[in-house]
Amino acid sequence: MSQILAVQGSPRGERSHSRRLLESFLLAWQTQDRERAVLRREVGRVAIAPINESWIAAAFQPEGERDEVMQADLALSETLVDELFAADRLVIATPMYNFGVPSGVKAWVDQVVRIGRTFDFDPGNPRSPYTPRLLGKKALIVTTRGDHGYGPGAIYAARNHADTHLRTVLEFIGIDDVTVIAVEDDEYGGQSFADSYARAERALAELAGSF
Ligand SMILES: Cc1cc2nc3c(=O)[nH]c(=O)nc-3n(C[C@H](O)[C@H](O)[C@H](O)COP(=O)(O)O)c2cc1C
Repeated sequence: MSQILAVQGSPRGERSHSRRLLESFLLAWQTQDRERAVLRREVGRVAIAPINESWIAAAFQPEGERDEVMQADLALSETLVDELFAADRLVIATPMYNFGVPSGVKAWVDQVVRIGRTFDFDPGNPRSPYTPRLLGKKALIVTTRGDHGYGPGAIYAARNHADTHLRTVLEFIGIDDVTVIAVEDDEYGGQSFADSYARAERALAELAGSF
């Protein structure tokens, strides 16, 4: 059985384009096979705790040496990491906010990129000090932007720290098969936005067959 973990990052509800695109993609993907399952993880409209000093101390304490307080500090992280391991597909739907991702998506990232859980660190390893732990998974990032020109090679590509950041993070923990589908011009509206949205819809419908 195949399972998607769907991370929803927009603080907007029904008005959210990334959310709407995500839902149509999930429907198309699930229609292909009744056995396919989707687990939704809301991070845009439900607060994900930012990591803090005690979280960091607990994360760096070897697993068997954590007291109850440390275990409680890591409880949400354990749940979110378990969700990632349980899924063989990951979809993150997120707007670009201030050239990066909204704080809920960043909080989720900080909770799941965890030493000893999703990656290992060994400074003595001659190949690389970092070993990713999440292998054999595919990811899709559905991202929406108010302006345009943030795609690879485009005029504002260097300002894009949203899907590019997520791609780096996912690769770091072992998910290196990542597709990005973006909608631009939400703030301009009109034909350019309609065209961009329609292109993304078509690309997602096509991808649903092979994801
Ligand atoms: C707080 C905030 C910051 C934003 N920052 C950017 C930005 O840096 N670049 C951009 O192109 N659009 C920016 N936008 C526009 C959103 O990315 C755009 O409206 C997007 O389509 C919203 O996604 P949603 O419909 O899924 O909520 C911003 C919007 C908000 C509310």
